Amino acid sequence: MKLTFVIVAIAMATAAGLTPKETASGRKLYADKCGRCHKAFKIEKYPAPAWNMWMNQMTAKTKLTQKEADLLTRYLQSLRTSLAENGGSGASQH
Ligand code: HEC
Repeated sequence: MKLTFVIVAIAMATAAGLTPKETASGRKLYADKCGRCHKAFKIEKYPAPAWNMWMNQMTAKTKLTQKEADLLTRYLQSLRTSLAENGGSGASQH
């Protein structure tokens, strides 16, 4: 992942109410746990209801603790919010 994206993501997620530590853990959870079986899908490509449906199915597959699931949900939600606000610019992951 590009460093600029990491910095932008941290700044945005922090603005959305996560501490930098939570943001870092959320990002790691997503890469380590969700990236185990497939690539890390981009949340901004999915409408919220579709994403929530996948999240329910996938958290069951992923065997996250309740705490991890909460953090991951908040992390991804913060990404979605800030990507929507920014029109996705500046944070594209290629
Ligand atoms: C145990 C393996 C496994 C893990 C771990 C896993 N997934 Fe999946 N994921 C799958 C499979 C297999 C599919 C294909 C659809 C299906 O069969 O349910 C899928 C499909 C998806 C899709 C839909 C992709 C599409 O077709 O548009 C999304 C989004 C997704 N996963 C997100 C996640 C997230 C977020 C996590 C972490 C919480 C996660 N996955 C963890 C196996 C996994």
